[in-house]
Amino acid sequence: MTEGPFAAGLFPAEPFRAARSRSDVAPGAVHVPGWLSVERQRALVEACRGWARGPVPMRRTVLPGGGVMSVRTVCVGWHWQPYRYSRTADDVNGARVAAFPDWLRDLGRAALREAYEDDGGHDVYAPDTALVNFYDGGARMGMHQDKEERSGAPVVSLSVGDRCVFRFGNPRTRGRPYTDVELASGDLFVFGGPSRFAYHGVPKVYPGTADPAVGMVSGRLNVTLRETGLAPGGQREREWPNRIR
Ligand code: SIN
Ligand code: MN
Repeated sequence: MTEGPFAAGLFPAEPFRAARSRSDVAPGAVHVPGWLSVERQRALVEACRGWARGPVPMRRTVLPGGGVMSVRTVCVGWHWQPYRYSRTADDVNGARVAAFPDWLRDLGRAALREAYEDDGGHDVYAPDTALVNFYDGGARMGMHQDKEERSGAPVVSLSVGDRCVFRFGNPRTRGRPYTDVELASGDLFVFGGPSRFAYHGVPKVYPGTADPAVGMVSGRLNVTLRETGLAPGGQREREWPNRIR
């Protein structure tokens, strides 16, 4: 049984605690370092390993112009391909993607509760897709917007493994102003409200900086949770309450 200030009852049902303090990177964009415990990081790595095996294998996405992304990706709930969502991975093997589990939705809600300090609509957050990206070698991600979703609900980003530079910009241009944030293993980053459609990217990963205790030999894993806003038939599901500062 835990003693002292962490004794049962003082912090009920809150296993996610930030090791360092959170920072507001832009309006609606919050960085919470060290949010996931090592145990939760290991569990997330294990889940990602399972999704990477199938029914749709993790692979490098081919862009319409013929270019190939350097990160490897697998999707959960809905499959993303440039530049739309579908239930089946038509650009990979045609299989229906793995179902989006309840525990991942609950993790997304807990993330919003933490990032927006209980004022961001976490109780109605219903992420239905996760993009799992694996960076190894020189993998990077150029500046882009997450804009295939029809919901304005926040994006929840979880990082495990090697540290990286996460470049977080503005909704108007892929250039400045932007802020370079170092994301380390266990960090949470949420972008919603006025920052929901901000450009962002990963210009650099620092190889060999991961703690082996998280269950990865090398590389960086990033999981983003999103609401597609797509009903099963592909219809717009609902609006996101505009509550985020
Ligand atoms: C993404 O923009 O989808 C991934 C961001 C990251 O890897 O941190
Ligand atoms: Mn993105």
